[in-house]
Amino acid sequence: MTLSEEAAKHPRLHLLPQTHQLKGLMTIIRDANTERGDFVFYSDRVIRLLVEEGLNYLPVVDKEVITPTGLPFQGVAFEGRICGVSIMRAGESMEQGLREVCTSVRIGKVLIQRDERTALPKLYYSKLPKDISDRWVLLLDPMLATGGSAVKCIEVLLEAGVKEERILFINLICAPEGALAMLEKFKSIQIITAEIDESIDDRKFILPGLGDFGDRYFGTED
Ligand code: PRP
Ligand code: URA
Repeated sequence: MTLSEEAAKHPRLHLLPQTHQLKGLMTIIRDANTERGDFVFYSDRVIRLLVEEGLNYLPVVDKEVITPTGLPFQGVAFEGRICGVSIMRAGESMEQGLREVCTSVRIGKVLIQRDERTALPKLYYSKLPKDISDRWVLLLDPMLATGGSAVKCIEVLLEAGVKEERILFINLICAPEGALAMLEKFKSIQIITAEIDESIDDRKFILPGLGDFGDRYFGTED
């Protein structure tokens, strides 16, 4: 079994349904020839799908409503409060997608940057909602390569009192080694991702990947 197959079978790694629509969107954003406007537009579409899927992992309680026909409908309502936390900078690209489905959602930010030479993550800054320890956290970062940045951010969240089982990591593309390392280190977090790739290269970039997400989304590539 390959590492990607092993990751795909992991009970806490949830892949979006691999539909033709998703494949088409991912094909556009992976294409090196895609210009920035399309990269942003189609990334945003995948991010919206991911956020919608992430909400499926929040707890609900039974709720009865009366429809305009006067009859009861046995439904559910979300239970528990949420917030987003983006790993800057690339994770900020996912904030709008979260706001579109959760109006006035609180969003914390953690600035973590990988050293360009060693790929080791460095924590520069964090600002989180004061009551984050009572909330479910949708942790936003489109790329998970070694997992170092996400692990560092989860440590910041745990120090702030967030319960590990209330962290949902929302991610576009992950490398299997990074995803498996993160799931091994934290025994109750969950990952929701669009695609699991093959591996990482010597520079710790995801293969086949899509290059540097932050640079392509924000227009800062060389
Ligand atoms: C990217 C990405 C993740 C990290 C993934 O950020 O957005 O945060 O790398 O790599 P890892 O799993 O090996 O830690 P980067 O530090 O390049 O900064 P950016 O958001 O400014 O692009
Ligand atoms: N960050 C990116 O943007 N892309 C990668 O492949 C790895 C880390």
